[in-house]
Amino acid sequence: MIIKSLKLKNFRNYDLLNLDFDSATNILYGDNAQGKTNILEAIYLSGTTKSHRGTKDRDMIRFGQEESHIETVIEKKGIEFKTDIHLKKNSPKGIAINKMPIRKASELFGVIHLVFFSPEDLNIIKNGPAERRRFIDMELSQLDKVYLNDLANYNRIINQRNKLLKDIYGREDLISTLDIWDMQMAHYGDRVMQRRAKFIAQINGIIENVHGKLTGGKEKLNLFYEKSIGDADFSEAILKNRERDIRMKSTSVGPHRDDICFKAGDLDIRKFGSQGQQRTAALSLKLSEIELVKLLINDTPILLLDDVLSELDKNRQNYLLDSISNIQTIVTCTGVDEFVNRRFLINKIFHVNGGQVKKEN
Ligand SMILES: Nc1ncnc2c1ncn2[C@@H]1O[C@H](COP(=O)(O)OP(=O)(O)O)[C@@H](O)[C@H]1O
Ligand SMILES: [Mg+2]
Repeated sequence: MIIKSLKLKNFRNYDLLNLDFDSATNILYGDNAQGKTNILEAIYLSGTTKSHRGTKDRDMIRFGQEESHIETVIEKKGIEFKTDIHLKKNSPKGIAINKMPIRKASELFGVIHLVFFSPEDLNIIKNGPAERRRFIDMELSQLDKVYLNDLANYNRIINQRNKLLKDIYGREDLISTLDIWDMQMAHYGDRVMQRRAKFIAQINGIIENVHGKLTGGKEKLNLFYEKSIGDADFSEAILKNRERDIRMKSTSVGPHRDDICFKAGDLDIRKFGSQGQQRTAALSLKLSEIELVKLLINDTPILLLDDVLSELDKNRQNYLLDSISNIQTIVTCTGVDEFVNRRFLINKIFHVNGGQVKKEN
């Protein structure tokens, strides 16, 4: 699928913006703080209803304004459709597909498929488990509506259960009310864990090959799903930890505490990998994500590369650029020179300067 055009009104540092993209490679270049990432953020928002930076709606509205509009035209398997997002300062956002308002933000998931790749993604292996969970949750939420629904239910139940655990302190008569929450937590949690395990197996089916090529066959990379409950039955684990949960006033086991282990051979590279090893593995993960998405949606996602090329050495840059040759890509960078005279074919070049964008070719 491709994004054909983007319109912004009062979004971040844009007053009005109208961009037509090429169906292959697009470059947005310019100095820092000019608005390059803001454009990718708007596209990401159009597909996921959220900022990739985790920014609140009201903070994306142009300073001094009350509302912001983001419109896209997408072409998917030859068919065009429009998305409209309307951010408001003091009320929930409005979303429409082909001018038809949708009720729940989650209905937008899976309509547009995006892969966002930023320099922070290169730290996914070095950083904490929360970021690895976020990766898997964001990807699966785009791919699988059932997962999105299960995860939303699970998170809601955890919140309720944690509230109840706080109330139980000094009110022991409330303990029996935990049963109903525990049952639902086990139900949705099991489904979340099963889908994650499958996703990890699917990534493993791809990453070994990708990583082998990236490291010249020197390293064998595999992912392992580390559940907080280990191999135990989830319902039993919940019950076993109940006393501790009451004491701690929070839920100590479940998918909200899981992690993914990355092993190169036998080495857990989260803890023992060199920085270079961790970053290469992160690149492999991202490339495998693209391959998996292609396979599962039987189409190509839109790839957003935010300033990531400058973070990679020439070999890895080339490898990345070769692997994405058939995908619509929107790349941001500070200088366009680094691409010129390289084998990378650029179809459209835009210069971004202080919230103004000029097409240069
Ligand atoms: N809500 C907002 N209203 C107006 N300007 C904003 C808003 N949020 C961020 N900005 C501006 O956007 C710019 C940063 O844009 P960004 O796309 O991150 O830059 P870069 O080109 O480095 O990727 C900064 O100048 C910042 O002041
Ligand atoms: Mg940026």
